[in-house]
Amino acid sequence: MKILVMNGPNLHMLGKRKEQHYGTMTLEQLNNAVSQYAKNKGVETEFFQSNCEGRLIDKITQNTCDAIVLNAGAYTHYSYAIADAIECCGKPVIEVHLSDVENREDFRKISVLTPVCKAKFFGKKEKSYFEAIDFLVENK
Ligand code: DQA
Repeated sequence: MKILVMNGPNLHMLGKRKEQHYGTMTLEQLNNAVSQYAKNKGVETEFFQSNCEGRLIDKITQNTCDAIVLNAGAYTHYSYAIADAIECCGKPVIEVHLSDVENREDFRKISVLTPVCKAKFFGKKEKSYFEAIDFLVENK
């Protein structure tokens, strides 16, 4: 099984964002931790980050992986274009967030992606990604 782990806008800034929400890891450290976790479960990973909505859509709809773990950053809250891409990509997509989006500003409580994703894990920093991998392994 190969999982595509995607990170959207401003996640390249991890390590410099608010520690209480996002922790101290850089994106590279996060990707390494996720890669190691997945490897221990016998899962191969590929990583992709972009700040651009269109590039994220291109990758969601054109990849050779079996499933996607997606942190769409702020696009989560309003990108119907990404929601449409998830809906038609033909692969299970799991929504993840580092922070506890349900207990922050009101706009973060809204996700236009949740209805088209198979599951959602949030609020546990890198462990949210680990939970998404566990879900995909258990439900393949
Ligand atoms: C985020 C939460 C979003 O609200 C925010 O815009 C992000 C990161 C998270 O991982 O907690 O950029 O998706």
